[in-house]
Amino acid sequence: MILETLNLMHCNITSVVPEVMPTATVPILLLVCFLFLIWNYEEISSIPGPGFCMGIGPLITWRFLWMGVGQCLQLLHKMYGEFMRVWISGEETLIISKSSSIFHAWVQCIGMHENGIIFNNNPALWKEIRPFFAKALSGPGLVRMIAICVESTKNHLDRLENVTNGLGNINALNFMRQITLDTSNTLFLGIPLDENAVVLKIQNYFDAWQALLLKPDIFFKISWLYKKYEKSAKDLKEAIEILIEQKRQRLSTVEKLEERMDFASQLIFAQSRGDLTGENVNQCVLEMMIAAPDTLSVTLFFMLVLIAEHPKVEEDMMKEIQAVIGDRDIQSNDMSNLRVMENFINESMRYQPVVDLVMRKALQDDVIDGYPVKSGTNIILNIGRMHKLEFFPKPNEFTLENFEKNVPSRYFQPFGFGPRGCVGKFIAMVMMKAILVTLLRRYRIQTPKGRGLKNIQKSNDLSMHPNERQPLLEMFFMPRRNVDKCQDD
Ligand code: HEM
Repeated sequence: MILETLNLMHCNITSVVPEVMPTATVPILLLVCFLFLIWNYEEISSIPGPGFCMGIGPLITWRFLWMGVGQCLQLLHKMYGEFMRVWISGEETLIISKSSSIFHAWVQCIGMHENGIIFNNNPALWKEIRPFFAKALSGPGLVRMIAICVESTKNHLDRLENVTNGLGNINALNFMRQITLDTSNTLFLGIPLDENAVVLKIQNYFDAWQALLLKPDIFFKISWLYKKYEKSAKDLKEAIEILIEQKRQRLSTVEKLEERMDFASQLIFAQSRGDLTGENVNQCVLEMMIAAPDTLSVTLFFMLVLIAEHPKVEEDMMKEIQAVIGDRDIQSNDMSNLRVMENFINESMRYQPVVDLVMRKALQDDVIDGYPVKSGTNIILNIGRMHKLEFFPKPNEFTLENFEKNVPSRYFQPFGFGPRGCVGKFIAMVMMKAILVTLLRRYRIQTPKGRGLKNIQKSNDLSMHPNERQPLLEMFFMPRRNVDKCQDD
C-alpha cells in the first residue's frame, strides 16, 4: 500500500519537476529509487511477514507496545500464517506456532539475557547454574515438597481472614501467592519472612519484567520512562539479599551442617569454593523464590475459577480423592493414581495457560520447517496457540475429553521443552496436586455470580497474568461440611 502511495506521488512529482527542479534531479531520483529497490530486494525473505522496507517493518515493535504482544501476535498469525517473521526492537524475530517447527527449534536455539537462570543467554554460565536448580527441584526435595505444601495450605486455610475482605470474599490469587512463596521459602531458603511484603514486591517485579521485556533500546535511553520499573526490580533484589545475608550468618554459626543442605546453602558453599560469584548466588535465590509465586500461583488461581465453573469435573475429582486417598493427607505414592486430577491440571494449562510464549535465539544457521533461519535470529514459540490448533478434539472448549486419549508430548508443552524447558515441571505437578487436594477437601469454590474466566482481564499480554485490580480475583470458599449439610437438608 505504501509503495503504491509512493508511486502515485512519484507521478505527480515528475509532472511538476521540470518547472521547479533542474533536469539533473530526475536521474538522481531514479538512482535513489533503484538503490531503494536493491536494498529491499536484499531484505526479501522466503519467510512470511512484514519486510524491513526501509525501517517500516520494525515499526511493528511499536504495534506490540500499544496492542500488547498476545493480541498483536494473533492478528499477525491471521495475516501471515503459523510461521512468520516480525521485527522486535529492530531485530528479526520468528514467531512459530506449529508443533513440527517447535520441535526442531529447541535443538538449535537457546534463551536470552545474561543473569541467574531464567533468561540467562550465556550458555556456559547457564550450564553451571542449571544443575543447582535441577537437584533442588527433584529427588528428595520433590518428595519433601509434598508434605510442605500440605502443611502450608492447611496453615493458610486456618488464617483465611488475612485474605478475606469485609464481604467475605477471598483474594484467591494472593492466597495462592502466599502459599507458593511460603513453600518455596521452606524448601529452598529457610529464613522467616514477611509474606505480604515479599508477595507485593514479587508482583511489582513481574509487572516491571513484563513491561520492559520487549521495549526497544530507545526506551532505555530515557530514564524517567523506566525508573519506576527499575525501582521495583531493585526493591525485590534488596529484600532477597537481606534474607540471603541472614542465611549466610546462620550457616557460619552452625556447628554441624544439616544432612539436607537446601538450595541456598548449596549455592553459598559453591561461592565459598570460588565456583559462583555472590551476585550470581543472589540472583539464583531470587529466581527460585519467584518462580512458583509467579507461574504456579496464577495457574492454581485459574484452576479454582475453572473448578467453580465446572461442577461435574469437581465432583469427579472429589470422588477420585476419596477413592485414592480417603481421609489422610496426600503422599508421594498417590500422585500417579490421581488420573482425573492430572487430566484436569493438563486441560487447565492448555485452555487457560499462564505462559504461552517461549523464547529462543538461534545459535547457528539452520532450516526450520523449510525456512532458512540465520544464526542470531530471535524466535518466539507460540505454544499457547499451538495448543489450540493441533491434535485436541475440542480445542476451543474446556473439557477433560481433550486428555482422554494419550497426548503425544510434541502437541502439549505447557512447561516448554528441551534442555531449556522448565526445570520445575515435575515439582510443579506435585505441588499443584498437593495444594488442590488439601484445599478442595475442606472448601468448595464459588466465583461471584455472573463472573467467570471470560471476565478476566489480563494485565499484560505477554503472560496471562490477571489484572490485579479486578473483582474476579475474589472468590467464596465454602466449608465442605456446611455445603454437604445444606445438600442433605
Ligand atoms: C504451572 C507451573 C509452571 C509453569 C506453567 C511453568 C512454565 C515454564 C516455562 C514455559 C518455562 C520456559 C521453558 C522454555 O523456555 O522452554 C519455564 C522455565 C523455568 N521454570 Fe517453570 N513453570 C512452572 C513452575 C515452575 C516452578 C514451580 C519452578 C521452580 C520452583 C519453575 C522454575 C523454572 C525455571 C528456573 C525456569 C528456567 C529454566 C531455564 O532457563 O533453564 N517453574 N517454566
